[in-house]
Amino acid sequence: MIKAFIIAAVTVDGFIAKDAQHSPFNWTSKADKKRFIELTKRAGVVVMGSATYKTIGTPLKERTNIIYSKSQKFEGVEVTQDKPADLLKKLEERGFKEVAICGGSQIYGMFMKAGVIDTVYLTVEPLFFGKGINLFSEDLRYTLKLKSAQTSDSTGALLLEYSVDYSGTPKLTD
Ligand SMILES: NC(=O)c1ccc[n+]([C@@H]2O[C@H](COP(=O)([O-])OP(=O)(O)OC[C@H]3O[C@@H](n4cnc5c(N)ncnc54)[C@H](OP(=O)(O)O)[C@@H]3O)[C@@H](O)[C@H]2O)c1
Repeated sequence: MIKAFIIAAVTVDGFIAKDAQHSPFNWTSKADKKRFIELTKRAGVVVMGSATYKTIGTPLKERTNIIYSKSQKFEGVEVTQDKPADLLKKLEERGFKEVAICGGSQIYGMFMKAGVIDTVYLTVEPLFFGKGINLFSEDLRYTLKLKSAQTSDSTGALLLEYSVDYSGTPKLTD
């Protein structure tokens, strides 16, 4: 069964960007960038929203790039409007074993809400933004299990890996 993971860098106050045009490139640590490259290359396929893609501006090399957009076209990538479970099924049929869900907030939320995420790789960067775009902008509630935690001594970034515990997840109202 294909596995999907979320990979994101967040500030200590939970933001992934100051606004939709703000690229993570300038504020994330080397350790985060290294892990991002390793894990997305291992998966071989990256999925992101059009706003995130525009902050990068070019397809990520050596990976299949799938961009969510309702109307826009981009060169050198695949554009989709599929429901998360349908996209994963198609990617599984194409031989992929795992998929990297690379944001932003709308796409993280859509995949998390669909209940198809196995693992969450979060890098907590030692920064506050005060205001900005949250990791999720939807009402959701899941229980996570910490699988590993590493600190990057040079920058103070915290590299976390969680699995999503579907059995231990209470209802939104609990
Ligand atoms: N810190 C990090 O790790 C990290 C990671 C990723 C992104 N980011 C940041 O997050 C920000 C962008 O996040 P965001 O939430 O504003 O945007 P986003 O999730 O990157 O993209 C939103 C776009 O995705 C498309 N979309 C969403 N749902 C769709 C659906 N069901 N079907 C088809 N298309 C759909 C729409 O594109 P159209 O308008 O083209 O229809 C929508 O405008 C940027 O600043 C980026 O740098 C940070």
